[in-house]
Amino acid sequence: MGRSKVSVIGAGNVGATCAHWIVAKELADCVLVDILEGMPQGKALDLMESTPVVDSDCNVIGSNSYDATANSDVVIITSGIPRKPGMSRDDLLATNKKIMATVCNEVKKTSPNACVIVVANPLDAMCHVAFDTLGFPRERVMGMAGVLDTARYKAFIAMELGCSVEDVHGMVLGGHGDTMVPLPNHTSIGGIPLTELVSKERIDSIIERTAKGGAEIVALLKTGSAFYAPAAGAVAMAESIIKDKKRVLPCASLLNGQYGHKDLFIGVPCVLGKGGVEKVIELKLNDHEKGLLNNSANAVKELVEALKKN
Ligand code: APR
Repeated sequence: MGRSKVSVIGAGNVGATCAHWIVAKELADCVLVDILEGMPQGKALDLMESTPVVDSDCNVIGSNSYDATANSDVVIITSGIPRKPGMSRDDLLATNKKIMATVCNEVKKTSPNACVIVVANPLDAMCHVAFDTLGFPRERVMGMAGVLDTARYKAFIAMELGCSVEDVHGMVLGGHGDTMVPLPNHTSIGGIPLTELVSKERIDSIIERTAKGGAEIVALLKTGSAFYAPAAGAVAMAESIIKDKKRVLPCASLLNGQYGHKDLFIGVPCVLGKGGVEKVIELKLNDHEKGLLNNSANAVKELVEALKKN
């Protein structure tokens, strides 16, 4: 059995950083694809030249075509425009829809058995475009947002308590936008409930900062959006699939009645293994949490409707 192959479509900030994490983890051979001539080739060669320094036996190839991506185990799709200050993720809809459909038509032909991880925004709507274009089973099409939103949430909690990020456990569910649903009642630090360690006011402000976490970075960068944490999130998902780790990660998955929703991509806890989303875990939510999740689902539904008009 040869090495696994992960292809990353879009070799911009998020895509190139995915390749960087893949090499750093010695996870798989990696193919970077972009429409810009020379750019994916240059970044891939540069990364390839870093492998002797970091002792990582990964081949990294850059290309403007999909030939080298053939039979990828995982395809991460980051191609699309990022937001600038003042823009919401939803403002990217029309442009990124076209890019997503073009890319998925190629992926469908070249890697028909791959698990596909969507990263381009607006995330949940882009998952619908990918799913419809690819025609793959629902288990093999998923979106990366919950891992990122959860990472931000955990980082803010660790910063608040001055504790190790390793000991913070929790999840953020729902769509990738202002209506996302952090779950303080399901959050613990070394087994101790968050609600026993942090006041309600501080938890509310952490939740608010989490929901606006992407905008905070956009406002600081001014020229684009976050890429280190999004790329780390996508590669964590790819790793769980390639190594069949069966990690429980919040991913955008096409629901089939779970949480009371059908045929809608939304962030829920998933078991990720060789088969992709092998299981969606249904948490018992209280009425308040259910209300928040439904509110988030409605926001995603509106965008899916808007897709039809764009
Ligand atoms: N095929 C391949 N690559 C494409 C295509 C296409 N059809 N169209 C655009 N691209 C490439 C661009 O050339 C660019 O290099 O996608 C890359 C996007 O990179 P950046 O502009 O640096 O954007 P990035 O920050 O990586 O964000 C990409 O991920 O997090 C989301 O909201 C973000 O939708 C955005 C996406």
